Amino acid sequence: MALLKDKIAIITGAARGIGEAVATKLAENGAHVAFTYVSDSSKEKAIALENKLTALGVKAKGYQSNAADFAAAEIFVNDVLKEFGTIDICVNNAGISIDNLLLRLTPEQWIEVIQTNLTSVYNITKNVIRPMMKAKSGSIINMSSVIGIGGNAGQSSYAASKAGIIGFTKSIALELGSRNIRCNAIAPGFIETDMTNYLTENKAGEEYLKKIPLNRFGKAEDIANATLYLASDLSSYVTGQVLSVCGGLNT
Ligand code: NAI
Repeated sequence: MALLKDKIAIITGAARGIGEAVATKLAENGAHVAFTYVSDSSKEKAIALENKLTALGVKAKGYQSNAADFAAAEIFVNDVLKEFGTIDICVNNAGISIDNLLLRLTPEQWIEVIQTNLTSVYNITKNVIRPMMKAKSGSIINMSSVIGIGGNAGQSSYAASKAGIIGFTKSIALELGSRNIRCNAIAPGFIETDMTNYLTENKAGEEYLKKIPLNRFGKAEDIANATLYLASDLSSYVTGQVLSVCGGLNT
């Protein structure tokens, strides 16, 4: 039986990469999916994803919405509630990295990463807990990173945002556990997507590969499988946790 039959899921930043794989996996398991994309240039991909998900027999809709903007997040969640009725699963996936050593990292770059990666999680989660509290059930899954656990030279803003997500996740799990709302984070290792293609295409990639016991970069589907677990009742006794999906990489 489909693990998520007729559940309603929202996913931020799903026009490509991990978000797209998550949207597809949840839909394959019976969930109706509302997702966001941010730029005009992603519109075509968003429409293609809508069509792909609909062909799986579920309802699917893409919304152009900037998760880093509180007002836009509120409108997105309200639109989904109008269109889909409720929200059972929330995957905060949208993220960017702007790599720079601290010496060169500008205040603008710092703010952009923190707002896109961390404030977006607050923006969406704050709005999504209302219907979940009403339903007395929900699963929130936040995309952190192994870099948020171990840090990385040149990625202080990214690491801070992803570590912030872990603290937020654990706090929300404590606040909302009694309402049967679970909140967990996933810490992906190096996953082959547009965000990391610079790694797989040059020498630095070979060095990273040496540190991965399973001896391969991850695939977006590896993260989608972990998301399915945390979204479904298979993890009904799991909250406030960080699931590393990283091939054994210790940062
Ligand atoms: P990606 O760059 O392919 O996808 C990120 C998506 O987020 C894009 O579709 C982008 O348009 C969207 N996005 C960016 N800013 C947004 C905003 N303000 N509002 C809504 N959407 C926005 O990257 P990837 O690899 O698929 O990453 C997905 C998540 O997984 C990110 O949070 C990333 O930090 C995290 N992650 C990725 C890893 C990797 O190795 N690829 C490793 C660890 C974490």
